[in-house]
Amino acid sequence: MIHTISEGVYCLHADIQTGDLFEGIWPVPQGVSLNTYLVRGEKTALIDLVRDWTGAPQQLEAKLSELGCSFADIDYLILNHLEPDHTGWLGDFFRINTRAEILATPKGIKLVRAFYGITERLREVKDGDSLDLGRGKVLRFIETPNIHWPETMVTYDEDSGTLFSCDAFGAFGVLGDKVFDDQLSPDEHAFFEKETLRYYSNIVASFSSFVEKGVQKIRERNHRIRCVAPSHGPVWRKDPEAIINRYLRYASYAGGKTEKEICVIWGSMYGNTGAGVDAVIRGIEAEGVPFSSYRVPDENVSYVLAGAYKSSGLVIAMPTYEYAMFPPMAYVLDIFRRKHISGKTVLRIGSWGWAGGAKKEYEAALEKLSWTSMDSLEWQGRPDSETLERLEAGGRELARRVLGSREAL
Ligand code: FEO
Repeated sequence: MIHTISEGVYCLHADIQTGDLFEGIWPVPQGVSLNTYLVRGEKTALIDLVRDWTGAPQQLEAKLSELGCSFADIDYLILNHLEPDHTGWLGDFFRINTRAEILATPKGIKLVRAFYGITERLREVKDGDSLDLGRGKVLRFIETPNIHWPETMVTYDEDSGTLFSCDAFGAFGVLGDKVFDDQLSPDEHAFFEKETLRYYSNIVASFSSFVEKGVQKIRERNHRIRCVAPSHGPVWRKDPEAIINRYLRYASYAGGKTEKEICVIWGSMYGNTGAGVDAVIRGIEAEGVPFSSYRVPDENVSYVLAGAYKSSGLVIAMPTYEYAMFPPMAYVLDIFRRKHISGKTVLRIGSWGWAGGAKKEYEAALEKLSWTSMDSLEWQGRPDSETLERLEAGGRELARRVLGSREAL
């Protein structure tokens, strides 16, 4: 099926359904799409490519064929971003197509050489440069560094008002035959909203200030954006502002403008810390604050990141294990540090058996996290009724802080 954005502008996508991890880290149980775009004037440009992943080049080839085109017919290959999910098949493309020029930012061109050993038919493009394809099709390049790597740019089609944004404004999840936002049901929109947040928190969140700068830069250029066409997830032709504003909202989470929600992240060996978690949740519920709950290591950190990133408050619940933190939680906290999950109000609780140690290591970890942490609530063995009351009160206090109340207990 051909997905036409406007005359001469087409979305070609490959749906990837695999047990592989995205970037070797993040699970994609509902898959991910690799979107590329064909723009035809007198000359033909392909915007972004694919990696050789579950038949993506063959899926792309079949779609080109429906348009009466082949890889050999491409005059220009525009690479907005060099991460190999969009470029892994470049060496094969370059052998099949013996004339196309490859366009990227100067940093992108360096990566073409470094990753693929290609030294010919390369053209560096700079911020504001354009490419005239003829028949009124002019593509404009806008550098958007660090969304999400230093070499990234976006490409704007002045004729159709389409912004080809590569990773920016993307989401996990395959598309099937529904590529455009106006084709999705409410349930499908809800699915992609969740998978956009997970994608953003996993991949983009560390670069949120650059997202804000990038959007501002694009807006200052007075380009009228009629369609946002990312390289993962739906194409937004009906309501392009919806995905731009969603990204800006997610970027604002990094600056502390989070949702008044609590994310409970917990691990338990024999149910003693788990019993404490139940008491904390009773306190949160009593204050009426929405919360989500993730047990580690059962839940992959990819999902934990999404829940924590948007929430003002966190509960970190873990027992002591070998005089230190429960190892799956240590991993989660390390990922949080690397992903700059900052500005949270946090309650940490946990049981210990023979000796403590989690508290000490947690407090050392806190030095690298910009969090406001309440005092740890710890106990030996199973929580008694007095401890459960303290834990419930801790949950209430955290909930009040999240709501903006600083009432003393
Ligand atoms: Fe979709 Fe940064 O690659």
